[in-house]
Parts: sequence; C-alpha cells; structure tokens
Amino acid sequence: MSGQQIIGFEGVGRSFVHRDRELVATRDITVSIHEGEIVTIVGPSGCGKTTMLNLVAGLMAPSRGTVTYRGERVAALNGRTGYMTQSDHLLPWRDVASNIAVPLEIRGVPKAERQRRVEALMDLVGLAHFETSYPAALSGGMRKRTALARLLAYDPETLLLDEPFAALDAQLRLRMQTELVRLSRRLNKTVLFVTHDLDEAVALGDRCLVFSPRPGTIVRDVTIPLPRDRDMVALRQDPEYRRLCGELWEQVAPALDATASEFPEPLPS
Ligand SMILES: Nc1ncnc2c1ncn2[C@@H]1O[C@H](COP(=O)(O)OP(=O)(O)OP(=O)(O)O)[C@@H](O)[C@H]1O
Ligand SMILES: [Mg+2]
Repeated sequence: MSGQQIIGFEGVGRSFVHRDRELVATRDITVSIHEGEIVTIVGPSGCGKTTMLNLVAGLMAPSRGTVTYRGERVAALNGRTGYMTQSDHLLPWRDVASNIAVPLEIRGVPKAERQRRVEALMDLVGLAHFETSYPAALSGGMRKRTALARLLAYDPETLLLDEPFAALDAQLRLRMQTELVRLSRRLNKTVLFVTHDLDEAVALGDRCLVFSPRPGTIVRDVTIPLPRDRDMVALRQDPEYRRLCGELWEQVAPALDATASEFPEPLPS
C-alpha cells in the first residue's frame, strides 16, 4: 500500500462489565491502516466492529494494547475523524438543511457559502427538495443520508462509517457507494466502513477485515485487487468481483456458523 500508516492497533483488546462479569468484546487486534485506504469491516453481530470505530474516534480507551492515529496514541476525542454512528443522532429541532449545516456553523462559514455547500451536499445524497423537512418526517434511509451529508460537511480526514447504507434501497445504495468511493479517492480520505453485506465489503474496499465472533479478533485481512476507481454498476457483472465475493463468503461462513451456536434454543415460531 502506498500511503503512510494513519491508524495503528497494537495488541488491542476491549472488555466491558456485564452482570458483574468481564465481557471481552474484542481481543488481540493488531492492524495498520494506511492513508487513502478504504477498509471494510465484516463479522457477526457483537464481535466488536462498532467498538473498533469507537476506539479510533477516541470515544473509549482500549483495556489492553494501544491505538494510534498518525503515530500518536489516541487518548482523547479524535477530531480528525468524522463518525457516522449506527444510529443517526440528527437534531430533532432542526430541519434537514440546518442539520447538515451544523459543522459549517461551528466553523463560522459565512451564510451564503454555507447555503451553497448544504445545497450541493443535499444534491449529492439525493435529498434536494427536503431541506425544510424535520427528522421525524423522514424515512430511515433519508435520515441516514442526512447524517452522511452532515458528516461530509465536516470534511474530516478519516471517515468512520457504521453500516451507513443499510437502510437504503438497492438503486440509491449503488449511487451512494459510487459517490463515496469517488469522493474518497478525489480527496484522499481514509475510510473505515462497517457493513453486514459481504458484496458491499468487496465492492468498496481496498481491504476487508473479517472478524471472528466475540471475543472478536481479525481472522482475515483480505486485499481486494480491484481498480481503485470503480463503477459500481459495471462491477456487478465483473467476473473478478463475483469471484472475490464468493471467496469472502467462504471465509466468513465458519464465523456465521459459530454465531448460530449462540442461539441453542430454536427460535419461537
Ligand atoms: N458501552 C458498552 N457497555 C457494555 N457493553 C458494550 C458496550 N459497547 C459494546 N458492548 C458489548 O461489546 C460487544 C461488541 O459490541 P459492538 O457494538 O462493538 O458489536 P458490533 O460488532 O458492532 O455488533 P453489531 O453488528 O450488532 O452492530 C457486544 O457484546 C456489546 O454488548
Ligand atoms: Mg455495531
């Protein structure tokens, strides 16, 4: 990989207290992420994917090991990252346009410039004409898109995205994936992208980290040898893409089996 290391995990583990006992969420994570890389993260529910993003964002400290950002230990909130959490955290008293404008207001961007940028971002995420809607009047997918536009308004150097496209219909998802890759490449963003969708993990990633079930650790670090600039629609027909998706499925299947054993009782019908 050409870029310098931007994020480093060295023997990282994180535990929580659950019912007076230690619950080990993740363990032994050692990985380097380089500037300009798009790294996708997959693994069964509860294996520590969100925890990994929280550690990079400085929202929590590791129980073991060290997390570094540009060579320095992450010891407080990491202002160089922009985080789109699994839930969108829109401000209910602000409409779409003024939710997106929050980072620009904080930075003191003048009103006319702010409006121009908010409009461009709304266009980008397919929300033109919804500027005056409030979060309660939006669908799940529209809320996610508003949150993504707000994140892009921050213009952070690293994007931490936790299942950002999960609630989108197939067509919009393709468009957003295409835009995300295009923007990240153009602006040389580093992206950590959590998804449950293995095809998406291959379509977007330069690399895909596969986690084991809890206590989660990285069991595969798969390089995805597709071109850096990708046409998401054409990719669907690409035999190399299909082959890579099949390969990733095979690698993840054992982890899925292990998750199934967490539910020993048959689910009630
Ligand atoms: N703040 C917390 N307090 C207590 N336990 C936590 C906390 N955050 C995470 N955990 C636990 O750590 C484990 C990993 O959680 P995490 O949210 O990282 O999983 P995940 O891989 O993102 O799962 P999902 O795919 O369902 O989003 C889970 O068992 C969860 O209950
Ligand atoms: Mg999660």
